Amino acid sequence: MTVGFDLKGKVAIVTGAGSRASGIGNGRAAAVLLADAGAHVVVVDSAPEHMEETQKLIAERGGESLAVTADVTDPDACAAVVEQAMDAWGQLDVLVNNVGVAGPSGTVLDVDLLAWDQCLRVNLTSMVLMSRVAIPRMRTSGGGSIINMSSVAGLVGGHQGIAYPTTKAAIVGLTRTMAAHHGREGIRVNALAPGAVHTPMVYSQGIDEAAREQRRLAAPLGTEGTGWDVGDAVLFLASPRSRWITGTVLPVDAGLTATLGTYTPSVTAAPPAQADTGPQR
Ligand SMILES: NC(=O)c1ccc[n+]([C@@H]2O[C@H](COP(=O)([O-])OP(=O)(O)OC[C@H]3O[C@@H](n4cnc5c(N)ncnc54)[C@H](O)[C@@H]3O)[C@@H](O)[C@H]2O)c1
Repeated sequence: MTVGFDLKGKVAIVTGAGSRASGIGNGRAAAVLLADAGAHVVVVDSAPEHMEETQKLIAERGGESLAVTADVTDPDACAAVVEQAMDAWGQLDVLVNNVGVAGPSGTVLDVDLLAWDQCLRVNLTSMVLMSRVAIPRMRTSGGGSIINMSSVAGLVGGHQGIAYPTTKAAIVGLTRTMAAHHGREGIRVNALAPGAVHTPMVYSQGIDEAAREQRRLAAPLGTEGTGWDVGDAVLFLASPRSRWITGTVLPVDAGLTATLGTYTPSVTAAPPAQADTGPQR
């Protein structure tokens, strides 16, 4: 399953590696798949109970993980995460900056500015804080891969609130600039832009079947994505198979951003029955 994606002996940190509800979130899937590939995985979350299921899954599949409770908006907590990774396994190769929150609603006219600042701190500044303590350790480990979680909301307009897509667009700039700054050190920096994946982040806020169906049909593939689809992309960008790729933003969105937002299928056949769940992982 992991041929060519071997991460044996590598050490990865995944922030937001818990999930706010049962099921498979992007961070949980990334942590599990990196461990499947042989990496020692440091799972980080501000809510320790969110990480229990992630660690259980990793252990059941024969992987190794260490849970660290940390709020990634706190510089000291970020430093402690990296130190614990180094104490446990002596190197650092992969950092997945996955933490992200929906943030406040509202336009520029009425968004709550304290909540706006907090959303920037959680979604964007946390990536700077984690990267600034991880990069020196990656240098001494001979290079590394950083994967920042953006969103299709950061690539196109039309989102209901101003805060979330602004942070996700800023992550694109952060990623490209970091890639240029750290390429010569053998550190690759890429971003993922998930589309309307069905994860605990989405269904814990309540989504009815009609809205779910609308999200599914909005994209050319017409199938529903899950956290595993995002996790697979993380695994690719973490692995040597992407060794010549840096500074990219990879949509994982069933083709949503390849269309004009007025997508009408010209082929109306139903997708294959198994396509909604994809392969077992
Ligand atoms: N689900 C989607 O449809 C979708 C689409 C596009 C992008 N994304 C992005 O994916 C990422 C998260 O996906 P997920 O499925 O793992 O979400 P999730 O909500 O299931 O998990 C995120 C975890 O982050 C933790 N967290 C929140 N703030 C934290 C902080 N300050 N410090 C440490 N941990 C913190 C939470 O406790 C939670 O367990 C986010 O960046 C999100 O914007 C999701």
